[in-house]
Formats: sequence, structure tokens, C-alpha cells
Amino acid sequence: MAKISIAIVCVAAIAWLMASGAMAQVSEWDTATAAYYGDATGRESLGGACGYGNLFKQGYGLETAAVSKALFNDGSTCGACYEIRCYNDSRWCAPGSITISTTNFCWPHPASSNESASRCNPPRKHFDLPQPMFFKLVNDYRTSIIPVQFRKVPCVKKGGIMFEMMGDPDFIQVLVYNVGGSGDVGLVWVKVNGADERFWQMDRVWGSIWRTNLRLVGYSLSFKVSSSDYKKEVQSDNVIPANWTFGQRFEGKQF
Ligand SMILES: *[C@@H]1O[C@H](CO)[C@@H](O)[C@H](O)[C@H]1NC(C)=O
Ligand SMILES: *[C@@H]1O[C@H](CO)[C@@H](O)[C@H](O)[C@H]1NC(C)=O
Ligand SMILES: *[C@@H]1O[C@H](CO)[C@@H](O)[C@H](O)[C@H]1NC(C)=O
Repeated sequence: MAKISIAIVCVAAIAWLMASGAMAQVSEWDTATAAYYGDATGRESLGGACGYGNLFKQGYGLETAAVSKALFNDGSTCGACYEIRCYNDSRWCAPGSITISTTNFCWPHPASSNESASRCNPPRKHFDLPQPMFFKLVNDYRTSIIPVQFRKVPCVKKGGIMFEMMGDPDFIQVLVYNVGGSGDVGLVWVKVNGADERFWQMDRVWGSIWRTNLRLVGYSLSFKVSSSDYKKEVQSDNVIPANWTFGQRFEGKQF
């Protein structure tokens, strides 16, 4: 009997830990607005202020958004995933929700008071979506800016975190993308294998691009990435071979 109750307590404790772990990953619903840009192909969604470059090639596809200053937080939320649903208007709201990654910044227009131009002004929370994503939220094609609810959710990614070597020998930069879990990155560290055995913290240049003053050319490299809440780290040992060149990308481990 004692054994059974211990087993039950254990099962309950594990279930509770799993539930609270999952809870920590999903935030409460908050309110914002959403609008769209571009045409039905979503071609205009390429590039953006996070530095990801070709979003289709890099696995983000059309599931992206340019977010207002209040949500962009100087680029520290690049890669974060949000579930978004239309809110508070049964005339145009479609059922269901979409999930997107932050890939771009929606510029404020402080001088403007017009509803459309000022949509990304602080302190407003706003998502600019590629047209095909926006029209998954609404079923009225006359609608252009809508109230939404959103919450942060874990990012589900195929394969490992990607590291793209950029810049030049005097100004080496690394683009970090395809990040699962929290999706947005707290810190990145690099280890120069064979030079010394410690991880050096890198600096965020902008968006998801990180840099270091260390000489990295000709060395094999390891990277460590922390989630935005700094609670988790993932280490990719020897992810970059010594013969790496600028423009190459390498796949590391995943959260
Ligand atoms: C919901 O919509 C109504 C009418 O459009 C508006 O008056 C009200 O403020 C909205 N409520 C919220 C919470 O946005
Ligand atoms: C609002 O601003 C946008 C862009 O600046 C402009 O295209 C649009 O005509 C303006 N709308 C109104 C109602 O003034
Ligand atoms: C670079 O090094 C890796 C592993 O050390 C090797 O597999 C690869 O063939 C090399 N590439 C070139 C272009 O020499």
C-alpha cells in the first residue's frame, strides 16, 4: 500500500512538473492590433530588422511578423513565436489562430495621428502580417486593422539552431536563427577550439546578429546559446570546422 501511494505521489509530482514547465513556456493572452502589408504572395516579407535574410530559405516562410517597438524591444525578441487570434468582432473574426515568429520591426511614425500610420507608435502593441497570414484571421476583405489577442508560445523548429558566418576577418558576425523553444535568444557565447578552453560572451550587433573581437578565422568553433529567460542553454561543440568561410552556415544542437 505504501509503495502504491509513493508511486501515485511520484506520478502526480511528475505530472505537476510537466504542467508547470509547459505553463512557463506559454504566456497569458494580451491584446494588440494587427494589419497586413504586401500582396497575396507575401514576397515583401523577405529580409527585415532581425537580419534573417531569406525567410523562405531559412524556414520561417510566411509565418512572420513585423512588430511595433513595444514588442520588438530593440531586437531582443527576434525569433520569438506568438499565437495570434482575432478578437472582439464577430462580424469579421475567423475562428482559429495563427502562429508567427518575430522577424522584423514596424517603424513608428510619431508625427502621425492617423490610425493606420500610427499603428506601431509606442506604447501600442501591433503585428504587421504578410497578407496571406492576416486573412487567416478575418473573413471580411474590407478589414485592414483589427484587434487581436496574442500570447508567447514555444517555437517548434525542424533541425538544429543555425549559425551563419558573416562579415570579414576584422569584424566577424554570426547570424543565429532557427531557434526552437523560447525562439528569442538571451546571450550567445563562442569558444575558439584549440586556442583556449573558455566560452566568450558575444555582443548583439542588431536583431539576431552577434559579434566578437576574437580572431576566429582558421579555428574550429563551438557556440553556446541561452534562451531569452536565461533559464536554458544549449551548447553546440565543434559546430564550425576550422576551414569555415564567410557566408557558410552550420547546424548546431536544438533546445
Ligand atoms: C470591443 O468592440 C466594441 C465595439 O466595436 C468596443 O466598443 C469595445 O471597446 C471593444 N472591447 C475591447 C475590449 O476591445
Ligand atoms: C494615413 O496615412 C497613410 C500613410 O501615411 C496614408 O496613405 C493614408 O491616406 C492616411 N489616411 C487618412 C485617412 O488620412
Ligand atoms: C572542411 O573540414 C571538414 C571537417 O574537418 C571536412 O569534412 C570538409 O570536407 C572540409 N571542407 C573543405 C572545403 O575543405
